[in-house]
Amino acid sequence: MADKKIFIFDTTLRDGEQVPGCKLNTKEKIELALKLEELGVDIIEAGFPISSPGDFESVEQISKTLKRATVCALSRAVQKDIDVAGAAIKHARNPRIHTGIGTSDFHIKSKFNSTREDILQRAVQCVKWARNYTDNVEFYAEDAGRTDNEYLAQVVEAVIAAGATTVNIPDTTGYCLPNQYGDKMLFLVNNVSNIDKAVLSCHCHNDLGLATANSIAGIVGGARQIECTINGLGERAGNTSLEEVVMVIKQHKHLGFYTDVKSEMLNPMSRLVSDIMRMPVQPNKAIVGSNAFSHSSGIHQDGFLKDALTYEIINPEEVGAGGSRIVLTARSGRSALAHRLQKLGYQFNRNDVDVLYESFLKVADLKKEVQDEDLTQLATAYQPEAIMAS
Ligand code: KIV
Ligand code: ZN
Repeated sequence: MADKKIFIFDTTLRDGEQVPGCKLNTKEKIELALKLEELGVDIIEAGFPISSPGDFESVEQISKTLKRATVCALSRAVQKDIDVAGAAIKHARNPRIHTGIGTSDFHIKSKFNSTREDILQRAVQCVKWARNYTDNVEFYAEDAGRTDNEYLAQVVEAVIAAGATTVNIPDTTGYCLPNQYGDKMLFLVNNVSNIDKAVLSCHCHNDLGLATANSIAGIVGGARQIECTINGLGERAGNTSLEEVVMVIKQHKHLGFYTDVKSEMLNPMSRLVSDIMRMPVQPNKAIVGSNAFSHSSGIHQDGFLKDALTYEIINPEEVGAGGSRIVLTARSGRSALAHRLQKLGYQFNRNDVDVLYESFLKVADLKKEVQDEDLTQLATAYQPEAIMAS
């Protein structure tokens, strides 16, 4: 059976930009939107036009600029919001409105002081209103992660009947476990009579560090779109990280999915977003962290130098990471030392390396990382007439 395409819905410019300190101006948003389009994402959520005149302008300009990707504008289930979203995406080649309302009892009672029946009606009305502007309407059931499945199925069926072509099932609070989130999707696939008329979408937050696992469980359960951000940026602990889901899908081909994202652009894209948003990436971040392809312990370095596959499941070139790095520290072993000396042009036999290793450890215990200059000093002091290989 042919692999199934997973639509990548990037929300770096909307949910990602909600991060304190990450606000972007229109020029920066356009620059990122163009790069995201080049990266191969299918849908770009460009902003929340009613939220400010600046965001309206950004969504409008991005709509005028992009050639291939769908441009999506967020709105609440409020007519005025939807009108403004509709106006902002008017010039897009492929426009989408993303509208919705909270469906969990927490939202229905505490936020809206309402009832399930009333919320269902408002959900239907907002989708119908959005259809005045475009045929491509996505509905979000906010806090679907904590919404009762039976009620959620009723809402999903009603909004699809009203014209929603994508239905987003957000785990807004990052509460679900992967099996719960996957089962939720499966429940909807099995209990919504018109489910074949819409795409189910995963939108997971990372409050418990489960956003990527939940999104993957979601597609296994039947969803065909993942909402995610570069570097996992987003409200609180962030959203599903785009680079992670793309590479999980690529690495685990047996799942039977693919995306159109160009994986070799992932690291340059991560750096661009980090620079423009002035938000550093944690060094141990999967795929794009500065240590993602660094090896520092002796056991790992020895194995890696014999065969990279022993400690690397991804070729760094495949994600545009430049290459692997052997970091020399007090935890490094003789083979890493010998390898680096050789790279620096020194030829030492095994006994020489054994002796040099003792001096190396003394330096390494004093420093976090031993640099090439340190090794050159050691090698020169040990055997000033050491034969240079080249
Ligand atoms: O987390 C969430 O529920 C959202 C919606 C607005 C889609 O970001
Ligand atoms: Zn969100």
